This record gives sequence, structure tokens and C-alpha cells, in this order.
Amino acid sequence: MGKLDGRVAVVTGAGRGIGAEVARTFAAEGASVVVNDLGASMDGSSTEGTPAEEVAEEIKRAGGKAIANNCDVTDFEATEQMIRQAVETFGGLHIVVNVAGIIRDGMIFKMDERQFDSVIAVHLKGSFNTTRHASVYWRENRGGEYRLIYFISGSGLWGAPAQPNYAAAKMGMVGLSNSCASALAGYGVTSNCIAPVAYTRMTASLEGKSTTMNYSPDNEKLSTKNVVPPVVWLASEESSWMNGRIIQCGNGRIGLFNSPAIEREVTTPGVWDLDDAFEEMNTTFRDAVEYPNPFRKPRA
Ligand SMILES: NC(=O)c1ccc[n+]([C@@H]2O[C@H](COP(=O)([O-])OP(=O)(O)OC[C@H]3O[C@@H](n4cnc5c(N)ncnc54)[C@H](O)[C@@H]3O)[C@@H](O)[C@H]2O)c1
Repeated sequence: MGKLDGRVAVVTGAGRGIGAEVARTFAAEGASVVVNDLGASMDGSSTEGTPAEEVAEEIKRAGGKAIANNCDVTDFEATEQMIRQAVETFGGLHIVVNVAGIIRDGMIFKMDERQFDSVIAVHLKGSFNTTRHASVYWRENRGGEYRLIYFISGSGLWGAPAQPNYAAAKMGMVGLSNSCASALAGYGVTSNCIAPVAYTRMTASLEGKSTTMNYSPDNEKLSTKNVVPPVVWLASEESSWMNGRIIQCGNGRIGLFNSPAIEREVTTPGVWDLDDAFEEMNTTFRDAVEYPNPFRKPRA
């Protein structure tokens, strides 16, 4: 008995790295998988090879069910055909995992328009495309155990300085996921995000450089296998009570992020006087922002 028996999944960016691991594990757990990958270079400026075919063949050789798809997730019509391909080939669609991604890093003051637009296009527009087309199918076939899963990043959650494009795209995906969590719950869809960490080509350049993580192909805790368990769980029927949340995973850890909540609040009975509002925020908010840790001393 597999954890995803009888379920049909589309996994974008599944020709390499984390996406390939997700596709292989989904298939090993009984899902039929559309393995999507364009074969893009890391910055998305060129394509090479046929990684989607390779992963789909590997799955089939292992006895699983898979079909390759080479579409560019930024293409609205092509992603519609990909959703149709899943339904026509495997008789339905239950899970869409948005993993496809590129990076084009640079400080905000040096970033050109193309650098920004291309990264937004793959992560955010690509996720919109798959979601939009899947949602039409789910609305017409309401009441299943349907799943949207978005791969986001700590880069957006904490603000990586040289990734304003990538950070913005990933936090855009959080908004997309949250909106869909509200809009599609009535049709049986849950929508959640995964913030992963793993050693892949995307993080290989951090080898020997990170102060927080031992990025190395020899560090098994950073294996893509350590990202997969919460993705399989979210894709399964067991997670139907989880909607609109973010799970961080990798490096041997699986963490649930809190939902946005007001931390401090000041109020007025009528209309704010500007000086009063300044005063209240300077006192009440500053404590929370600057001294959230009892061990951290106030600035002199
Ligand atoms: N590796 C990490 O530690 C890490 C951390 C945070 C977030 N992520 C995110 O996880 C996801 C997977 O990352 P990875 O490390 O496995 O990267 P990867 O580069 O190994 O894989 C990304 C895949 O996406 C495909 N792709 C790119 N553009 C595409 C397009 N337009 N259409 C279809 N496919 C396309 C690429 O061909 C590639 O195979 C990405 O969204 C990434 O931003 C990774």
C-alpha cells in the first residue's frame, strides 16, 4: 500500500534536484506523475538535455507510472495542455507541485529589468499558470482530495540581500497559495507552501561558504530526500486539515511556520493625531522590534 495510491500528480521542475526526488517518491508511493521540466540552465537563459524524459523513464523502469512534459511553465497555453495531459493520460488530477525555479542573483541597485522579470515569470507566473488551469478542473470535479503545493524559500521569508527578484517571487507565491487556500477550500483543495533546503546545483556554490549550513554533497542531512516527507504528506489524503500554511524542511528538520499575526497594537478611540501615533509606535513597536530577546541588551 503506497501513501499516494491512485493519485495523479503534476510536478514542475521535476527533471533535476528536489523536483526529481519528489516525482520519484510520489511514483514509488503509488502516484501517477507528469514529470515536467524544460531542461533550463540555472539562470533560465538556455536549455539543455531532456531531464524530464530521463526521470520519467527511471520511474517507469522502477515499475512506476510517469509521463514526461517539457513545457515552459511561463507559457499559459502550454501549462493548460499539461493539465489536460495529466487528466487524459491518467484519468484525473489530484496534486500540483510547483517546484520549477531559476535564479539570477544581484543587488537591487544593480538589477536590470530582465533579471527581475525572468525570475518572477518562472516562479510566480509559472505557479499562477498551473494553479489556474488545475483549479478549473477541480471546480468542475469538486469534492476530491486536491492539493496545491508551492516551493518557496527562506530567501523571501528572511530577505536574502542579493535576491530581491527571487525573494519577491517566492513571497508572491505565498500570497497566491494563501488566496487559493481560501478560494478553493470549498472544492476540496488545500494549498500550502514548502520552504526547503537541500544540496542541489542551486546551492552548490555555497559549499564551504555558509556559516549556518554544511553545504556539501557528502552531507546526507542536506540530501533532497530530507525535503520529500512533508511534500508526500501534504500530497496525501491525510493532510486534509492543513490549509494555507508554510512548512520548512531539509537538513533533518521539518518545521511549521506560524501564520501572520499582529504582534503589538496601539489604538485610538477616534482619528489619530500624527504626533500621538508617532509616540505610540516609537514606544510600543520599538520594544518588539529591537528587544524581542530577553538576553539582548537595549541599545545604549
Ligand atoms: N535547493 C535549495 O536549498 C532550495 C532552497 C530554497 C528554495 N528552493 C526552491 O526549490 C525548487 C527546486 O530547487 P532545486 O534546488 O531542486 O533547483 P534545480 O535547479 O536543481 O531544479 C530546478 C528545475 O526547474 C526547472 N525549470 C526551470 N525553469 C523552468 C521552466 N520555465 N519550466 C519548467 N521547468 C523549469 C529546471 O530545468 C530544473 O530542472 C526551486 O523552486 C527553488 O527555488 C531550493
